[in-house]
Parts: sequence; structure tokens; C-alpha cells
Amino acid sequence: MSNLVVAIDGPAGAGKSTVAQLAAKELNCTYIDTGAMYRAVAWKTLQTKKPVTDELIADVVKDIQVELSYIDGKTQVKVDGTDVTGEIRTPEVTAIVSQVAALGPVRVKMVELQRQMASQSNVLMDGRDIATSVLPNANVKIFLTASIEERARRRFKEMQAKGYDVKLEELQKDIAARDKADSERKISPLVQAPDAELLDTSHMNIEEVVSAIVERCKKA
Ligand code: DC
Repeated sequence: MSNLVVAIDGPAGAGKSTVAQLAAKELNCTYIDTGAMYRAVAWKTLQTKKPVTDELIADVVKDIQVELSYIDGKTQVKVDGTDVTGEIRTPEVTAIVSQVAALGPVRVKMVELQRQMASQSNVLMDGRDIATSVLPNANVKIFLTASIEERARRRFKEMQAKGYDVKLEELQKDIAARDKADSERKISPLVQAPDAELLDTSHMNIEEVVSAIVERCKKA
């Protein structure tokens, strides 16, 4: 039997990583969080303490080693051997990650790594361009979204739980700016693939979304 390859794309805050992680566990797939890889490059760029420019980012990505492992249903991210799983979720990283992800040299390197990982086992990969560009032959393609208000509310709860002092209106503005940057960039913009199924999760809870994805994959 050929490998099961599941591609889930969608905008920021749609809940992709939460549901993808759970669905991957049920489906016995390796979960690959591609956003975490772009965040890893952003994190390393910030470590230089230099003004963030496209040139600096291109320089940083030249010899970065990003490792993604999926252990006991959890993703661990390492940059040059250092565990940065928590650090890649800070507001500072989030603030520059769209700029990082828009750059050609960054995408070339990350996409190569993503395809390499996808060839090794059954995978469920989430991101922005998985169905359109990284894995166009995926068996299942899902475009996961929710209203911007709902996405901001979810991010707000997540950040609050981590102890960040955030404002809902500001989060909504940040998400709208990231949606715009991710959908309007020249290389591999965020767009629903013509053959992807739309799943609007605005009025669904986590369990409902996970079971919708799992059911869909069982039919593949
Ligand atoms: O899903 P996330 O918030 O962790 O993604 C971080 C950023 O990376 C987001 O601004 C879009 C970008 N990204 C991308 O361009 N392509 C992907 N396949 C995944 C994420």
C-alpha cells in the first residue's frame, strides 16, 4: 500500500497544529509542522541581534540545521542542535516570521527538507503551501479556516495560557496583517488548492474537527 500523505493548509490561528497533531496520532502518521520550520529560521535570525533585513535572513539560512522530531505525539524543534520548541512561539518570532517565510532561499531549503521528511513515512503536514506546492500529489488536501474573530480569540486564549499579556484587538490586527502578507507574497502564497476541501471550523470544537479530518483520511 502506498503512503498516506495528508496536506492541511490554512491561515494563522485556524487551529491547524492543534488538530493536525491529534489527527496524526489517530491516523498513525508523522506530523510535520512546517510553520515551526520557518519559525526556527526566524528565531536564529533574532539570535544575531542585528537589524532584521532580507540579506541577514538569507545569510542565516545558508548554514542552519533545522531538525523536526515527532515524539509521543509532540513536535520538537532543534536549531543547530539546540531545542527551541518553546522559543519559536514568542511574539518576537511571530512578528518577523512572515518576512522570513517570503524569502526564496528560505523556502527552497525548507521545502526540500519537508519533501525529504514526507518520503519517509505516512505523513500529515500542515502549512500554507503544502497542497499547492510542497506535496501536490497528497492523497488528502484540506483547507482549514475560521473567521478572523474566532482565530484571534483562539490565539488570545493560547497566549494568555502561556502567561503573555496580550490584547485581543492587537492580536486580531496582527493576524490580519499576517494573512495579508502570507496571501500576497510572490512565492507560494497562501491559497486554497483547487482540489482541496474547505473546512470552516468557526463553529466546531477540536474533537469535531479532528474527527472530520480522520474520517476524510479513512476514505482516501
Ligand atoms: O503556522 P505558523 O503560524 O506557525 O506559521 C508561521 C509562518 O510561516 C506564517 O506567517 C506563514 C509561514 N508559513 C509558510 O509560509 N509556509 C508554510 N508552509 C508554513 C508556514
